[in-house]
Amino acid sequence: MIKRTASFRGLLLRVASSSFPSKSGVRRGCASQASAVQRMIEPSPYSEDEYADVDWDNLGFGLRPTDYMYINKCEDAEFGQGQLSPFGNLKLSPSAGVLNYGQGLFEGTKGYRKENGHILLFRPEQNALRMKIGAERMCMQSPSIDQFVDALKQTTLANRRWVPPPGKGSLYLRPLLIGTGPVLGLAPASEYTFLIYASLLEGTAPLNLYVEEDFDRASRRGTGGVKTISNYAPVLKAQTRAKSRGYSDVLYLDSATKKNLEEVSSCNIFIAKGKAISTPATNGTILAGITRRSVIELACDHGYQVDERVIQVDELVDADEVFCTGTAVGVAPVGSITYQGKRMEYKTGSGTICEELNATLIGIQRGIIEDKKGWVIEID
Ligand code: COI
Repeated sequence: MIKRTASFRGLLLRVASSSFPSKSGVRRGCASQASAVQRMIEPSPYSEDEYADVDWDNLGFGLRPTDYMYINKCEDAEFGQGQLSPFGNLKLSPSAGVLNYGQGLFEGTKGYRKENGHILLFRPEQNALRMKIGAERMCMQSPSIDQFVDALKQTTLANRRWVPPPGKGSLYLRPLLIGTGPVLGLAPASEYTFLIYASLLEGTAPLNLYVEEDFDRASRRGTGGVKTISNYAPVLKAQTRAKSRGYSDVLYLDSATKKNLEEVSSCNIFIAKGKAISTPATNGTILAGITRRSVIELACDHGYQVDERVIQVDELVDADEVFCTGTAVGVAPVGSITYQGKRMEYKTGSGTICEELNATLIGIQRGIIEDKKGWVIEID
């Protein structure tokens, strides 16, 4: 059990007083946001614990709803002032664009607790930017970068008792942008909802991948490079089949030639041989992961030669290591890959490049290693 060091009243005051300057220096919605949060928090049944009552050593990645979510609606051209509300179900028109035509995007990012108790977010503006780019592709209105980042800060602080103790995992934040306006004929929705909820998250074990040849994840000039919700349900069939055969996930090949690596169902892939690290170049079919980009930069700093290029599936035979990157998985070692009945095994564990890059990334994310890149923001 974690030591109780602060009262619920302290939490209330911290949440209620949280407001954040935008890039332009303007402080947004301080008073109205604070009183809205206060109204919602006061009758709360939650305890006065500094931390939620959680087994922090066994978090997993199942949904573990936290206290508050953030909601902002765009009924005209722009998003206005969003607000926090207790985590709960949404009321939606049966003909909402997202339900009928899959007009939706999601993001994933994490909040960490530093050794001194302060809370950190990792590159949230990158998620904001990716959502903006995705929204343009999906004909949706999107929140501004400042609105997105402010909303993430508010959601994290409102749920701060769910941010795990230092070294025990992270709070996973899930921003969603969905078409909530009613449509029947195929068209963009007339209203969009931007919301963020949060759940707990811990690291993953080595992955054993299966190279999928019967299904494609993405096609050229499609939406593979966009974090749209409609990219994810279609991978469930292959993933379920792979899991039933004892694999942890599926590695996809390019749909045009079936010869080149693309990505795993929900994360990017890297291969390493000696001091050379390669990852498939983002060409529209591959998601431009924020962890992917960060790992590329860290690997260059560590003296590796990093190439973003076409990687033939045949190269898997010669690789020393394979690892995956993504917000949810972090930098996760791949123990084996099975392709056309042949199982290839890779180094995992101590002394690997994967472990070295993972330790550096996590060290920066948790505020243990100095952040020389301006990736981390302290929000309290
Ligand atoms: C993430 O890493 O945040 C993802 O988008 C993966 C998700 C499908 C669990």
